[in-house]
Amino acid sequence: MDIHRLTDRLGGLAFGGDYNPEQWDAEVWKQDDELMRLAKVNLATVGVFSWALLEPEEGRYDFAWLDAHLDRLHLNGVAVDLATPTASPPPWFTLAHPDALAVRPDGLRLTHGSRDTYCLAAPAYRQAAARIAGALAERYGDHPALALWHVHNEYATLCWCDHTAAAFRVWLRDRHGDLDALNHAWGTAFWSQHYTAWEQILPPRATQWHHNPGQALDFSRFWSDQTLAAYREQRDAIRARSDRPVTTNLMLPGYQNLDLWAFGREVDLVSVNHYPGAPGVDAAAQAAFDADRARSFAGGAPWLLMESGTNTVYAGGRTLAKEPGDVLRHSLGHIARGSEGALFFQWRQSKAGAEQWHSAMVPHAGPDSRTFREVTALGESLARLGELAGSTVRAEVAVLHDPDAWWAMNVDGLPSAELDYFTALRRAHRALWDAGATVDFAHPGQSLAGYRLVLAPALFLLTDASAENLRHYVAGGGTLLVQHFSGVVDEHLHSRLGGYPAAPLREALGIRVEEYRPLAEGERITLSDGSTATVWSESLRTEGAEAVAAYTHGMLAGRPALTRHPFGTGHGWYLSSRLDDSGYAGLVGRLLTEAGVTAGLPGLPPGVEAVTRHAPDGRRWHLLISHRDEAVPLPEPGRDLLTDRFLSELPPGGCAVLRAH
Ligand code: GAL
Repeated sequence: MDIHRLTDRLGGLAFGGDYNPEQWDAEVWKQDDELMRLAKVNLATVGVFSWALLEPEEGRYDFAWLDAHLDRLHLNGVAVDLATPTASPPPWFTLAHPDALAVRPDGLRLTHGSRDTYCLAAPAYRQAAARIAGALAERYGDHPALALWHVHNEYATLCWCDHTAAAFRVWLRDRHGDLDALNHAWGTAFWSQHYTAWEQILPPRATQWHHNPGQALDFSRFWSDQTLAAYREQRDAIRARSDRPVTTNLMLPGYQNLDLWAFGREVDLVSVNHYPGAPGVDAAAQAAFDADRARSFAGGAPWLLMESGTNTVYAGGRTLAKEPGDVLRHSLGHIARGSEGALFFQWRQSKAGAEQWHSAMVPHAGPDSRTFREVTALGESLARLGELAGSTVRAEVAVLHDPDAWWAMNVDGLPSAELDYFTALRRAHRALWDAGATVDFAHPGQSLAGYRLVLAPALFLLTDASAENLRHYVAGGGTLLVQHFSGVVDEHLHSRLGGYPAAPLREALGIRVEEYRPLAEGERITLSDGSTATVWSESLRTEGAEAVAAYTHGMLAGRPALTRHPFGTGHGWYLSSRLDDSGYAGLVGRLLTEAGVTAGLPGLPPGVEAVTRHAPDGRRWHLLISHRDEAVPLPEPGRDLLTDRFLSELPPGGCAVLRAH
């Protein structure tokens, strides 16, 4: 089962959003039907938060109302992405099973009254969730409207309760085998933490000072596995009764709670939600960052933008409006990078309830509004892009992304509070995006042979196998940039002894790091090439590499800061400090040139995104998004599929989809 079945079923790219008809009456449903036709909506996500209506009391289901909506949507030519409602258990559930409510690290048990009030490790919750998923699949598994299953909504909650503790111990036994191995892995010889019985082990609840880092890392891994198991139970209950593809809408937040590579392997298609945290060009860069991650988690296969906001930019406690044209630019930013459509939260803006101020396709003002006009125009444009369905994106550059390394960098007691995995990952992607490169994310353990250039911005934790994989990549002709504080610990968070980074990687880089020297808050240093840097410095020596730039300050004056090492038929670069934006952009530009990375559509100025989608039969399309204030002549003028008009220049802020010559 894959995404092709969805786009085949829809006859092209998906367009629509979350639809919550239970908030409205028959009069509005009638208008919804008309407006959906007008906007060319072809997919509606239904039932995401409908548990209380679908199962008004334990074991008694009421499907009649949902039957009517599915039939109505089907008659109207709108396919359904049917959700299991398990992200929001009804009040009766939590009163009947108070032990299934989540407990925070400080011991406070949450109450219902919001959403996501459950513990994923609580047996009562897991059983109830699998049961309602099965009941829905039984009822609607072959409904003609049904195109896709949508398990849950944004798996993101954590819990530290006794059910969690019990499940954690089972997971730890499985991972470590016996207590000796666990004690060794966690370094419990320090601070008198030695465990003599499994029952003594707890999730990392509130404690006096630093948590044991091994315990914290294993808890993150455990919780991701626990979440995946909860997803699988629902998915399997559905698959036993329905042959439609199954997804869950993943969040791509700035914190790490799930191993999204693992989720990518378990869903029939990857789908993600996207809400930018900054306006303007930054929002477009964030869309590209998330879209490239989504495609990578999908293993390069087509995927789907399940939610975004028509008029929503979350910025500093405010919901900023999007600029005119942003809906198209942001949607296309995802589609260019492999999304098989653009869906929104939600179809109609709620009149009441917790998210009544969140934007929608039909705002409170109704169809006579800028938002709805842009939505309708987008629907018309996307309806012309059907030929893109099933085509994919190719990248010559990858940024390494490892959930273990991210979790590892969240542990207490690292040498600088300014070491941040997500920031490093985003900066690397942003520099490549600014330079116009098409970028994949890759796991450090996977084959990298297809990439000319690989950036490793924050590989704090690196296994021996991944270190060897990187060495092999460089030896075989790749260009690799490893950034500071990488290859420092193994999978147990044990420090690499005898010099950093991990030995096989060190060989490819031709350096040896002896000591870390975090910089003081606000301290800015200048390197010998004139670039400036903050946060971090390292005392290192070359072992075969050439020093491209050196430190000029204090005890490190004259010592290498940026190095380049010809190794095998490739090059291993090492950057031991955090370069400021312009210096980093300069370095990334040089690496792209030296590695021979080519632009998808040469001849465009900076500020115009250009990504190419490739069909298996050799057809190609260039998707262009301009962030410039003036018109830009097109290197390959042609018929723009978005408007069905011939285009020789891209208007200010304009977009185009062109068949490649
Ligand atoms: C998403 C979520 C939706 C809605 C939306 C807007 O993250 O899946 O249910 O809450 O955000 O806030």
